[in-house]
Amino acid sequence: MRVFTGIQPSGDLHIGNYFGSIKQMVDAQKDSETFAFIANYHAQTSVNDGKRLAELTMQCATDFLALGIDPNKSTFWVQSDVKEVLELYWVLSSFTPMGLLERAHSYKDKTARGQATNHSLFSYPVLMAADILLFSSDVVPVGKDQIQHVEIARDIATKFNNQYGDILVMPEFRVQEDVQTVPGIDGQKMSKSYGNIVNIFGEEKAQMKTIKKIVTENVAMEEPKEFENCNVYNMAKLFLEGDNLIALQNRYKNGGEGHGHFKIYLGEVMWEYFREYREKRAYYEKNQDEVREILNMGAVKAREVSMPMIEKIRSATGIKY
Ligand code: TYM
Repeated sequence: MRVFTGIQPSGDLHIGNYFGSIKQMVDAQKDSETFAFIANYHAQTSVNDGKRLAELTMQCATDFLALGIDPNKSTFWVQSDVKEVLELYWVLSSFTPMGLLERAHSYKDKTARGQATNHSLFSYPVLMAADILLFSSDVVPVGKDQIQHVEIARDIATKFNNQYGDILVMPEFRVQEDVQTVPGIDGQKMSKSYGNIVNIFGEEKAQMKTIKKIVTENVAMEEPKEFENCNVYNMAKLFLEGDNLIALQNRYKNGGEGHGHFKIYLGEVMWEYFREYREKRAYYEKNQDEVREILNMGAVKAREVSMPMIEKIRSATGIKY
């Protein structure tokens, strides 16, 4: 089974990215064939400072490696190093009804928030379909916000296969039930574009400062508090299990502590959780040449899979004449 996912290098990686997709990918390395890439073409829909995009691409690769993507187990590369994906994107565009893209939540959401629309934002799901289908992916681990994009890839693949035969593999999305959507500090979905993220590799003090801004209910210190709908609890539960989680629930139920205490606890737990990854990150940060080497190797491995597929598609569609 081939497990496949991508991340945009459009800002600091946050805990929504980690629990929504990165962790699932790292876990999948144990028993599946895993493909992970940095979606730098996709990031061009929101980053239009070239120097910044180049830096963010290396930063994202460094973070991903630090968080456990193992280049000996996974194929790990930068999207733009396998340019055939753009060719497939064009081919698939002719199998993409306008209505399918007009219904995309992510596009509708961005336009509703006043982000200037352009064609790349609109056709974003077609490029994502090309990513997934070029590599014959079986399973795509994502957060809830990306489910519809995987469904769009399936629709496009079905239309293509109806015309040209069973060439494209039908992908399935995989979301982790309990972390479909990680909340941000304002309680909305955590998202780089909403400015409500808790990043993974921030400075300790800055991170605690961000956590202290998490929006909570106004309840007197001595009163018991509800944990189910508390943003602090809902973040903390990602890092805790078993007795530790029950103990935190009891602190909420018992009263006598304010949300400020729970925030400090969350900050500490999170800092501890990522300790080992921070150390690994410091290593890769110092050894950027090694990161580049890993990405180059990954692109070679990725092409071994993508080239036969693009050849098949060129033949079927008559581009090869
Ligand atoms: P991106 O870079 O926005 O996010 C990367 C992954 O993180 C997940 N995620 C979340 N999960 C839970 N809670 C949240 N608050 C949260 N925020 C983000 C996203 O669902 C995603 O899985 N379009 C993709 C990148 C991409 C891709 C692909 C993914 C391009 N091509 C092909 C899979 C397959 C994106 O914008 O991810």
